[in-house]
Amino acid sequence: MSTQLTVVVLAAGQGTRMKSDLPKVLHTIGGRPMLARVVDSAQSLNPQAIHVVYGHGGERVREQLSALSVNWILQSRQLGTGHAVDQAMAQIADSQNVLVLYGDVPLITPATLSRLVAAAQDGGLGLLTARLPDPTGYGRIVRNAAGKVCSIVEQKDASPEQLAINEINTGMLAVNAGLLRGWLGSIGNDNAQGEYYLTDIVALAADSGVDVNAISTPDLAEIEGVNNRLQLAELERVFQRRQANHLMLQGVTLRDPARFDLRGSLEVGRDVEIDIGVLIEGEVKIGDRCYIGPNSVLKDVVLGSDVRIEANSILASSTIGDRCLIGPFARLRPECRLAEGVKVGNFVEVKKSTVDKGSKINHLTYVGDTRMGANVNVGAGTITCNYDGANKHLTVIGDNVFIGSDTQLVAPVTIGDGATIGAGSTITRDAPAGELTLSRSEQRTRRGWRRPVKARS
Ligand code: UD1
Ligand code: CA
Repeated sequence: MSTQLTVVVLAAGQGTRMKSDLPKVLHTIGGRPMLARVVDSAQSLNPQAIHVVYGHGGERVREQLSALSVNWILQSRQLGTGHAVDQAMAQIADSQNVLVLYGDVPLITPATLSRLVAAAQDGGLGLLTARLPDPTGYGRIVRNAAGKVCSIVEQKDASPEQLAINEINTGMLAVNAGLLRGWLGSIGNDNAQGEYYLTDIVALAADSGVDVNAISTPDLAEIEGVNNRLQLAELERVFQRRQANHLMLQGVTLRDPARFDLRGSLEVGRDVEIDIGVLIEGEVKIGDRCYIGPNSVLKDVVLGSDVRIEANSILASSTIGDRCLIGPFARLRPECRLAEGVKVGNFVEVKKSTVDKGSKINHLTYVGDTRMGANVNVGAGTITCNYDGANKHLTVIGDNVFIGSDTQLVAPVTIGDGATIGAGSTITRDAPAGELTLSRSEQRTRRGWRRPVKARS
C-alpha cells in the first residue's frame, strides 16, 4: 500500500515582473490559468487533498478558480517558501506524503510527478532537479564525494565554487509530512534574503540520514517557471506543440503545427485536415474528413462529417450537420443548428437560427432568430430585421422558399412553403405559400431626360 498523498501548491508570490493587474497564476496557458493547470496535473495523482497557498491578489484568484476542488490557505506575508509550506502543515497528518508544487510552473506532467512521489515512497525525500547550461538564479544542488545530495544553496548565498554547479533545484519535492513538519520547525531565516527557505530542509534530511533521491526529466519545459510574459509566451508554444503532436499522432493533418492553437479540448474523427492559423477554443468536436480552412476560429462547436469550413470563418456555440459548406468569411454566432448539406457563404452572419437540409445562404446576408426550412435559397443582401430596438422577433421560412436578393424580412414574419419573394422587397406581413410576393415601387423611365451639366466657374 502506498502512503496517502497531499499536495501543496505555492502561489502566493507577487509576480511583479508580469507587470500586470492580474495575479500571475491567473495568466493562462492554452486558455487555462497556470494555477489550474498545475492543479489538474496534481489531481491526476488522486491525492487526498490539494492545498493552495495564496497571497497577493488572492481573493481574485480564489473567485476565478472557485471551481477547483482545493483547500485555499492564505499566506498574508511572503516570508519564503519554507514559511509558505508551513502554512498548510496544520491541515496535514504526519502519516501523509507531501508533494510541493508551484502555481507558476504550469507544464509539469503527471508522469514526472508520479516518479517524484515514488522517490519519496520508502521514507526518502524525492527532489526534482535538472542540469542547465546556465544555472544562474536557481538554487544549486550540492553533492558529497559519494555523489549523494547533501544540501541546496541559493544563488545569493552560494560560494564561487557552488555557483559553478550546474545541477539546479526545480523547487518540486515530495517527502513524509511528519519529517517535513519537524524540519520546517527548525529552519531559520538567517540568509542573504532573510527568508525561510524550504530548500534548507534538504541538508536537515541528509544530516538525519534520510535518503535524498534526486530525479530529473529530459523535458526542461516541465520545470520552467513563468516570471514574465516572454516566458509565458515560450511555454505557451511548448504547450501548443505538445497538443499538436498528440493530434497529429491521432491522425489529424495539421498543415503547420506551429500555426495551430487549441485552448480547450478537441475530439476528432478520421482524416481531418486543419489548415494554417486555426484557433480552436472550448469544447470542439470535428467529424470524419472535415476541412478547416486558414485563419478560422471554432469555439464550442460540433461538426458532422465531410464539413468544409473555408478560410477566415468564425463559428461559436453551434452545431453543423454533415456535408455543410461554410465560408470563406462566414460568421456563425451562438445557437445555430445547420442540418446536412447547408451552405453559408462569404460575408454571411447567422445567429440563433436553425437551417434545414440543403438550404443555401451564399452571400452578404444576416439571418438572426430564424427557423428556415429545407432547400431554401436566400439571395445576396438579404436581412432578417429581427430587432425592433427593444425586442427580438422570429422569422419563419418554409421549405423550398426562394428569397430574391436585397430583401428585408421584418420580423415577426412567416414565409410559407414554396413562396417566392421578389428581389428588393421589404416584407412586413406574412407571405403565403406557393405565391410570388414582392414589395417594390414600380419602375419608371423618363424618356429624354438629360444629366445636369457641371456649372462653369
Ligand atoms: C526557489 C528555490 C530555488 C529554486 C527556484 C526554482 C527556495 C528558497 N528556493 O527560488 O532553490 O531553484 O525556486 O524556481 O525555495 N512563494 C510563496 N510564498 C513565499 C515565497 C514564495 O508562495 O513566501 C512561491 C512563489 O509564488 C513562487 C515560488 O514559491 O511560485 C518560488 O518562490 P521564489 O521566491 O520565486 O523562489 P526562488 O527565489 O525562485
Ligand atoms: Ca522563482
